[in-house]
Amino acid sequence: MTSAQPLRGSFSTYESWSHFTEREARTIPERLTTPQVVGLSDSARVDYDRRRREWHANIVLRSEQVDRLHQDLLDIVDSNQQDSDRVKSAAAIDAPPTMGKTTALRMFGRDFHRRRVAEAGEYLDPDTQTTKHIPVCHVTLAGKPTIKALHQMLLGFYAHPSVRSELRQSLTLSRDLARAAADCIARHDTRLVIIDDLHFLNMRTNDSVHVANQLKWLANEYDAAFVFAGVALRESGLLKEGRSGEDAALAQTFRRWTVLGMNIFSLQTQTDKREWARLMGSLDKAVVLSNGHDRMIQDLATYIFVRTGGNIGSLMDLIRRGTTRAIRTGDEKLDRALLDTIRLDEGAESGRADREKKFDRKLKRELDDGSTEEAAR
Ligand SMILES: Nc1ncnc2c1ncn2[C@@H]1O[C@H](COP(=O)(O)OP(=O)(O)OP(=O)(O)O)[C@@H](O)[C@H]1O
Ligand SMILES: [Mg+2]
Repeated sequence: MTSAQPLRGSFSTYESWSHFTEREARTIPERLTTPQVVGLSDSARVDYDRRRREWHANIVLRSEQVDRLHQDLLDIVDSNQQDSDRVKSAAAIDAPPTMGKTTALRMFGRDFHRRRVAEAGEYLDPDTQTTKHIPVCHVTLAGKPTIKALHQMLLGFYAHPSVRSELRQSLTLSRDLARAAADCIARHDTRLVIIDDLHFLNMRTNDSVHVANQLKWLANEYDAAFVFAGVALRESGLLKEGRSGEDAALAQTFRRWTVLGMNIFSLQTQTDKREWARLMGSLDKAVVLSNGHDRMIQDLATYIFVRTGGNIGSLMDLIRRGTTRAIRTGDEKLDRALLDTIRLDEGAESGRADREKKFDRKLKRELDDGSTEEAAR
């Protein structure tokens, strides 16, 4: 196991993916009281603040939505392994930007990787240890991928020799590359292939149509479950059925794919409200500030919803920026006064005034309740 170093990048190589999946979980910094924080030596204070900033920057929440998505994905991936016929199941997560697709998918891939390694070991030949067990292949599309680029990305994940520049010329045909990629998947017993940012395939170009068809083909041919993620996949035409010839055959496969969504949080129904409250509760457990209290974030649930519109990306930005500022200024707590000074992305800011109007009474009540509780503490 490697230590908890900051992680960056797209995890599109086996090494970076392994590092991500096998690293130890971060440990939450100890909760000190304000006098204890003030009493730290300069160097201990610098270290404590740095650890807290890093911790807050990397909070990952298993929201109920993430749990539901993981259950759906597990059904698909596990049943794929039991199927003996040639119809392969696949899933596509189709949701707007910053809904948490990448985060949820990586968590899923990580759990799956660890489970398979626990079941079947790190090597497929334990005696000689020559063939690594690589249960998950993970690539993130970028730019305008061509078929060759797609295969090279898959091969690049496995550090296949063909991606080394001197050998690049030897495999020129797309079908050779496809075969080489299929070999890697089979040789390393890969059971799950994750392709993120599928929307980079702009279906208006011929090449993208070929790449999309190739992906559909791969998903059906390989003995691995494919999970895709992207923005507006339905609208882009990626999930449309082909009409003729080869396209029609592929469409048959594609029709068996399950499309899963992810939504912004809402406060419409009682269930929505409970889910949002539980999310706030998880944040209370995760945030380490010395002047806070157990319900600090839950007590701001409506305010935080009004600020973020229920978008997980905006929510996490608010929390990260808010905690960083609270540590820097010595406030050591999150409240409206501090959070009001944090500016968020345009999406969140532009809807804020409307939400303020809509939740006006609830916001006032929350403020009053907060003041009463503050006085009682
Ligand atoms: N479950 C989660 N816990 C904590 N933070 C999360 C979670 N899901 C998403 N985030 C945060 O929200 C932001 C957007 O998440 P992510 O990149 O996973 O979204 P996405 O749907 O893949 O976006 P895009 O469509 O732009 O690729 C990130 O800053 C991420 O840290
Ligand atoms: Mg993403």
